[in-house]
Formats: sequence, C-alpha cells, structure tokens
Amino acid sequence: MTDARLDCLLARVPGLRLTRDPADLAHYGRDWTRRWTPAPLAVALPGSVEEVQAIVRWANEERIALVPSGGRTGLSGGAVAANGELVLSLERMNRVLAFDPVDRTLTVQAGIPLQAVHEAARERGLLYPVDFAARGSCTIGGNIATNAGGIRVIRYGNTREWIAGLAVVAGNGDLLELNRGLIKNSSGYDLRQLMIGSEGTLGVVVEATLRLTDPPPPGNTMLLALPSFEGLMRVFAAFRERLTLQAFEFFTDRALHHVIAHGAAAPFGQAHPFYVVTEYAGGDEAAEAAALAAFEHCLEQGWVGDGVIGRSEAQAAQLWRLREGITESLAPHKPYKNDVSVRISAMPAFLAETQALLAREYPRFDVVWFGHIGDGNLHINVLPPPGMADGEFVGHCERVTKLLAEALSRHGGSISAEHGIGLVKKPYLDSTRSPAEIALMRGVKRAFDPNGLLNPGKLFD
Ligand code: MLT
Ligand code: ZN
Repeated sequence: MTDARLDCLLARVPGLRLTRDPADLAHYGRDWTRRWTPAPLAVALPGSVEEVQAIVRWANEERIALVPSGGRTGLSGGAVAANGELVLSLERMNRVLAFDPVDRTLTVQAGIPLQAVHEAARERGLLYPVDFAARGSCTIGGNIATNAGGIRVIRYGNTREWIAGLAVVAGNGDLLELNRGLIKNSSGYDLRQLMIGSEGTLGVVVEATLRLTDPPPPGNTMLLALPSFEGLMRVFAAFRERLTLQAFEFFTDRALHHVIAHGAAAPFGQAHPFYVVTEYAGGDEAAEAAALAAFEHCLEQGWVGDGVIGRSEAQAAQLWRLREGITESLAPHKPYKNDVSVRISAMPAFLAETQALLAREYPRFDVVWFGHIGDGNLHINVLPPPGMADGEFVGHCERVTKLLAEALSRHGGSISAEHGIGLVKKPYLDSTRSPAEIALMRGVKRAFDPNGLLNPGKLFD
C-alpha cells in the first residue's frame, strides 16, 4: 500500500484483506445502476465483526467515508463508491452461524447470499419467504439495507417482517445487538427497524437473525394474457377473492418482447398488451376449482384473453422466467428505472394519470412497465431511443421522474417502493417525505454516525 492511512489501517488490523487492484476498485465500486464511474480509495474485505469495528474506528480517526457493500445488485446507486471512499465489503462474512428449531430462527452473517439463506432454511424443513430474481447475487445485508420486497410480498410482506434481530456496527464502531430474536419487546424505540431500509447510512449490519416459517403447500403458477389495463385490477380482485395468492406479478408486451429477444420462449401464439404471472396456494382439488372459477369469470367478463397453467415444475419455471428475466433482458439497454408505489386502492387513478403523462412526455422512448401489482408497486423502465447520448437521455428521464414524483405526491405514494433512494432518487425524496420527516431523519443520522462517514451522499446530502 502506498497510502499512509491504509498502512495505518493494516497495522491496526493485521491480516485484514485490503485491495487497491484497479479491477477490484472497478468491481466493488459500483452496483447495477452503472451510471457512476467507480473511484474508491480501496476495498476492505473483513472476516469478522471485530475487523469491521476496527475499520469503522479507523475511518473515524482518518475521516474516511465508508460504503458498506453486499452483492451490489442495487438499482439506486446505494452501493456506489465514486468519491474516494473505502468500500467495506461483507462478502467474506457469508456463513450460517446458528439455527434454533424452537425459535425457528436462522442467524447468519450479513454477506450470505439470499439463495443460500433459502437453501439453509429448506434443509431444516422451513422457509425464508422473501424472494426475488437477484437471489443468487444479492446478500441478506443488502436486503436489510433496502428493506427488500420482491415477488412474495403479497403473501409474506417485506424483509422487515422477517428480521428478529440484528448485530450492527454503528458509526462510532460500537457493536449494537438489536432485539436479540425476541418476538415481543416493548422497551422503547425499535432500533432494529430503524436500521432496516436505512441504506447503510446508520450502521453496518454484520449479522442477522431471520425468522423462518412453514413452507406452503405446493403452489400453482398461471400466466394470464389481458387485453386492457382497466381489467387488471378486476382480475386481481377476482383472484384474490377466491385464492390464497403467493404472487401476482404483471408486465407489458414490451417487457415480454425484451425477454423473448433475450432467449425466452413466447408463451402464446398471439401477442397481448398485458400479462400476469400469478402463483396461488394449490395442491388440492378445491384450490384447482377456485382457480378455474376465477379464470372463467375473468374470461367471461372480457378481462382476460388467454391463460396457461404451469403443469410441472419445469413449466412453472418457464412461466416465471418471463417475469424474472425482465431486468436482465433490459440491462444491456441501460434503462432508467422508476420504482414507485401507491396504495392498491389508488392504483387505477395513478395509472391513468401516469400512462397519459408518459405517452405525452416519452413518445419516442421504449417504456417498459412491470412489477408487483398486488403490492401497489410498479417498475417503470425507460429505454433510450437508438443513438441518443447518455446525458440527453438521463436529462429527459430526470425531468419526467420529477413529474412522476409530483403525481406520487398527489396520490400519497412513494418514489421508492423497494429499491431504495440511494443516489438516483435523492432529488425526489421530498415527494414522499415531509420537511419535518427529513429533518428528523437527518437528526437520526447524526446520532448514529456523528462524523457522517457511513455511505455519505446516499438518501440525502
Ligand atoms: C424486479 O421486480 O424485477 C426487481 O425489482 C428488479 C427491477 O426492477 O429491475
Ligand atoms: Zn421489483
């Protein structure tokens, strides 16, 4: 190392894995947003809680900013290090630490991938239900930092619901053991919940105790084709009334176009404007009959044009690929992502207004809609027209996001449903949070991180 501050860190934490290799700086300095040029000072890969504490204490003495880092699958720039920060990667802290069959909890290190959590729960006959397409790459620490949602929120809720305890290194290097796996704990402020969704700005999550639950009976998957947006909410109501929904995900013909161009098989002989992938608790005749009744009712009403059931695991996986493959199929086009939410009841009015807005403002752009309609969460991805320069494209998108933020404000929605504010949505935080709330959030930040070293510039300046 040629940097005296890093030499000092290495002297203090002998054996710490630290890299300044340019390839590592580029790799660890960015997330999936790809909009900022990575420029970290170095990357530290601690192997223990004590090493994380030592790094945070050193950072306070040297006034070095830290960017906590998991799988960097984030879509809001929350894990970007573009200003000489030290990336604090939890990647090596990826073990299952304990399982308690009585409490039905799994204690893990923060760097464990979500998929490894699923497998560890399954091996013990249980389920960790938070799930989404990035499961193989994202880590539980990152999921906690953004209160990740995903495809099963409609049935199980967000990450927040499944965190029984957290070990967190605060901004001064203190180790906080928050809630310690308790179900009931009415002893003042719940700092654990404050950490969840704080995007690495209040502390570094180093360990988590996760609640597990019984796996559901085998689910059934159905793909529906819909002629209009208006019918979509009616289809949702009809299915929810008759079935226990485990997922209700929607996407448009443009989304399907990109997934097929990326290698997926077309599901129907003919194109339809909208699609839904739904999964419902199945496994018995009653559920099958209810699903058929829901489908036939929607068909009669003209809300659904076609449908297919995944008859085997392989077929169900094929149907899911059409929804889960969207992000990957759009990535080469560098989409500008909007991740918004409104109450389900506000969805029809919000959609009507937003559709008109986007048609007016983006006539030349490929706008791809998809998302978790049953949670009131829409992903609106905008792709640049061929040949448009990056700067001009982002300029257009930022202006339209401002209009979207104003619409969200009117409808009582949020500018980030599940991706986080990070850098991308920072200018629009005040569309979702009042000045009084933001002032309190700043106060909380100061309390946990007095020197402002944890992920500075994310969420707010
Ligand atoms: C999804 O629902 O697929 C994720 O939030 C990722 C995305 O929005 O691209
Ligand atoms: Zn999503």
